[in-house]
Formats: sequence, C-alpha cells, structure tokens
Amino acid sequence: MNRAFSTDEALRQREYIEKVRAITLEKEKRLGRKLRFHVETLGCQMNAKDSEKLSGILREIGYLEEEREEEADFVLYNTCTVRENANLKIYGRLGYLHSVKKRKNPEMKIGICGCMMQEPDEVQAIREKYRFVSLVFGTHNIFKLAELMYRMETEEGMIIDVWEGTDEIVEDLPAIRKYSFKSGVNIMYGCNNFCSYCIVPYVRGRERSRLPEDILSEIRALAEDGVKEVMLLGQNVNSYGKTLENPVSFSELLRRVAAVEGIERVRFMTSHPKDLSDELIAVIAENEKICRHFHLPLQSGSSRILEKMNRHYTKEQYLDIVRRLREAVPDISITTDIIVGFPGETEEDFLETMDVVQKVRYDSAFTFIYSKRTGTPAEKMPDQVPEDVVKDRFDRLLREVQRIGQEVSGRDVGRVLPVLVEDVNRQDSTMVSGRLSNNTLVHFKGSNALTGTIVPVKLVESKGFYYIGEAVR
Ligand code: SAH
Ligand code: SF4
Ligand code: F3S
Repeated sequence: MNRAFSTDEALRQREYIEKVRAITLEKEKRLGRKLRFHVETLGCQMNAKDSEKLSGILREIGYLEEEREEEADFVLYNTCTVRENANLKIYGRLGYLHSVKKRKNPEMKIGICGCMMQEPDEVQAIREKYRFVSLVFGTHNIFKLAELMYRMETEEGMIIDVWEGTDEIVEDLPAIRKYSFKSGVNIMYGCNNFCSYCIVPYVRGRERSRLPEDILSEIRALAEDGVKEVMLLGQNVNSYGKTLENPVSFSELLRRVAAVEGIERVRFMTSHPKDLSDELIAVIAENEKICRHFHLPLQSGSSRILEKMNRHYTKEQYLDIVRRLREAVPDISITTDIIVGFPGETEEDFLETMDVVQKVRYDSAFTFIYSKRTGTPAEKMPDQVPEDVVKDRFDRLLREVQRIGQEVSGRDVGRVLPVLVEDVNRQDSTMVSGRLSNNTLVHFKGSNALTGTIVPVKLVESKGFYYIGEAVR
C-alpha cells in the first residue's frame, strides 16, 4: 500500500463530500425538509463495519439517519453473498422497495453495494432487471461513496463502479459508530485462504494488513471517545501482519491493543485454526482484557472432508488446539461454524463432525447447510449430497449443538462476573442486557444510565443461552 496516495485520496473524497453537501442543501430547500438515509446491512462484521463508514460519509454530506427504509430518500443495501439464500433475499427486498418508491416517494434513490456486487452476473442482473436502482458499487471502493453520490446526482442513468481488486487502504474517512461504547476495528482486509467452498476471497480480494500504528491510533482515539470494547476484524486474524514491510504478528498486535489505556475488553474475529500459534494462546492467558471467548471455525470434523475443503488441519490437530487453549485459559468459551453437506460428505464424515461437537462441547455454534457458490472449486466437485440427506444431518447437528450449548452456558451460575451493559431490555424496560467477557448474554434489573458501563453482576439463574442476574454493589 502507498500511504501518501491513500492520504491524497482521502483529501479528494473530502472535496466530494463538500460538493454533494451543497447539492443536498439545495434539495432540502426545494423539498422543505431534511434528507434521510437508510443503510441495510447483511452478512458479517466486515460488512457491519463498512456500513458504519458508509453511514459516516452519508451523514457528512448532510443526510440524517432513518430507521425505516420506507421513509428514506437514499436506501443503500450492503449485501452478502456467502450463501445463495442471502442473494435471493436481496432481490425480494429490492422489488418491495421499488413499489414503495413508486407509491410514496419518487425522490427515493436506491443503491446496492457489498460482496454480491463483486460478482459480474449479479451486477448484470441488476443492470437488466432492476433498472430503478441508481447506484452500484463493490467492496473495494466504499471510500468513494461521496464521489459516487456526486455522479448519481449529476449524471443520467444507473452509476456502476465495481473494482476487481485493490492494494489501497484509505485511512481517515468519517465513520459513525452504532454503539458509543464498543467498536469493530479492521486490522486486515481480504482473504488468501481459498477454502474450496467459499466465495469471500473472490469478492473481498487478496489479504492486506493495516499498519499497526494506524490501528493503534484509531483505537486510542476510540478510547478517548469513551469506547471500552474493541473487536479486531479480519477473515483470518492469525495471519495478520505477515506481508507488512516490518512484519508484526497478531499476538504482538493484540498485546499492544490490550495495553491502550481506557480499553477494557478486546475481542477478535475470525481465527483460522491452521495459523493459531502458542504465542497467541499465551497472550490471551496473560491478559485479562482479552475476552474469554474464542470463535474457532471447525467447518467439518472429518479430516478427509477438511482436506477437500482446503482447510489445512485435521480433526486431531483441531482437537489439540482446543486442548491447549483450555489448558492455558480454563474458563474460555469456544464457539464455532460448521458446514453440513459439503460435496462427498458421507454419514461417517458427518459422524466425525458430531464427535468433535461432543468432545469440544461448544458454547454455541453457527450451523450452515452447504451452499454451492459459482466460481469456487467445490462447485465442480462430484457427489453433491441430496437435499433430504443434508436436511436430516443438519437437524441432528442442530439438536446436539443446542443440547450441549444449554448445558455448557450455565456453568457460571452463582458467580459474580463483570458485565458490559449494552442496552435496555426490549421486552422489559426495567431490565438491561449486557455481555460477559465470554460473550454470554446477561439480563438484570437496571436503567439506561448503565449502558456502556461495566457492572459486577451475580449470575442468579441460567436460562439456557443467557443468564438472569443481579447487580452487586
Ligand atoms: N473467515 C471466516 C469465515 C467467513 S464466512 C473463517 O474462515 O472462519 C462465515 C462462515 O460461513 C464460514 O465459517 C462457513 O462456515 C460459512 N460458509 C462459507 N461459505 C459457505 C458455503 N458455501 N456454504 C455454507 N456455508 C458457508
Ligand atoms: Fe472463506 Fe476460508 Fe477465507 Fe474464511 S478463511 S473467508 S472460510 S476462504
Ligand atoms: Fe458475506 Fe461478504 Fe462477509 S460475503 S460473510 S458479507 S465478507
């Protein structure tokens, strides 16, 4: 990455922000009201973080945030394409939004961005069948939103700008945070792993690490702004920093982040088992600020399937990592992702997955039915598993994961543990909800004034996946 160039680009975008702000003001005068935007986010934490950046730019150009998409003047869908059903959902929503535009607000402009727009076939579909869409862009040029909005306001027709890849990381653009007390922080972009089922490397491009000094100065600024918890984001955080001019390991970065004054909790996502070092385990064990939660995607418990998935670890190696983690950090909670029905998966392979689930005893697991993605190696693999067989395995796995999760998550009943309060409870406004270091939810009596603070709470009762507690004062 060329830093000087990135700074120039940020300045260029600042100029566009000013230009579009002027257009926004004119429109406001004409309509006699403020303009409003709605960003709808699908997919993972990366997309959530991108949406904060997009929202930051939209606010700078003079738009207010609007919760209901039907009421907004600019609706932006930030899409995910990791499984096919995510795409189908988007097309349904676009159709609905078109009817709202026609009925209620002809001024409404609709944009679509994110991972799905990195697929040429999807862009073609939008171009041909969804002509009411005004703006299309991808994952590599979100920093250009002000410039693209300018073009949308001044040119005719659908604006489409999708880049195939990029080396560039543009720092110092505005962003708005969804929460005042916690924030995701990108430490790297892209992925080089090419797991054979996965489309992410194609839509997010090659792995690029941010400079440690940029990450740390962002986190220091967040801490000064009252943020207590940061989540370091990357598709494979364990390979952070390897390609930097002065390589820095993820463990070292974690150590430095945890040392930032004011930061009380550090999380990270996602950690690939193949690159998980003993140094990382040691840093977690040494440092109470690093949360007692480890998300360690398994994908399959069968070494044969893992090889076909291009995951670079075996069942035994995975179980060994879990053993070492628990030895060093006994109270850590472990969660995972599992795919059922990968091509060629036999009943024996599936039972290996069940065996790992029973041995590890996860706090929770995201279970997915394998979805064939265009352009991935698995798309062409023989022996795609019949739907009814996959469904049956999926149901058995889900039941087991839930049964174990319920048993495991209650293990801290009776203890007093710190809870970072996130919100007033939606069902009962006399309660607040927050999370333990290990990410388990806790509800207890309290008021909004507690939001963003860390409160010692006695865990009175386990309700399966969450606790009811009492604040201890
Ligand atoms: N980088 C992360 C995962 C990102 S995608 C990692 O390596 O763990 C999140 C999850 O989606 C994956 O862990 C996987 O379980 C699931 N997933 C990815 N591609 C999929 C596909 N084609 N079908 C079903 N699930 C998939
Ligand atoms: Fe996809 Fe594998 Fe990269 Fe995760 S590590 S994003 S599953 S290719
Ligand atoms: Fe989806 Fe893109 Fe994340 S495909 S899972 S939003 S990186």
